[in-house]
Amino acid sequence: MKRLFISLAIITIFSFFIVSCYYDNEEALYPSLSNSCDTTNVTYSGTIVPILNNNCLGCHSAAATGGSILLTTYDEVVARAPRITGSMKQLSGFSAMPKGGGKVSSCSITQWDIWVRKGMLNN
Ligand code: HEC
Repeated sequence: MKRLFISLAIITIFSFFIVSCYYDNEEALYPSLSNSCDTTNVTYSGTIVPILNNNCLGCHSAAATGGSILLTTYDEVVARAPRITGSMKQLSGFSAMPKGGGKVSSCSITQWDIWVRKGMLNN
């Protein structure tokens, strides 16, 4: 009886260790809750193109040209980069973009700035 009690105590103590080792990472469990903005892996194809696709190409593509400005190729985007910066940040002196549709996320603007600062690589 005494031995049974001791083994139960040992099992209980060890199970505490097992339980206490369990660790939930909220960001891993709920990625949508994490407020992370990827500022390290900013590339033209992986970051800038999706931003333009989601916010701009509805008007600035061959199908529907907003003010006959195309933002579908790398060269077009680079050529207009300074105007895009002003329009996306909705600075005075620039036509605010996306036209009539609020503002792109601050994460997207940060990523755009990083891409421009790093020399607008075609990566
Ligand atoms: C609903 C349609 C629409 C959307 C969406 C849109 N644009 Fe435009 N954009 C226009 C039109 C129309 C013009 C030309 C008239 C003007 O400048 O307001 C224009 C003009 C521009 C110009 C030139 C303005 C200037 O001041 O030099 C830039 C740069 C631009 N857009 C970038 C963008 C970017 C970047 C996005 C996405 C973040 C975007 N646009 C989203 C319709 C749109």
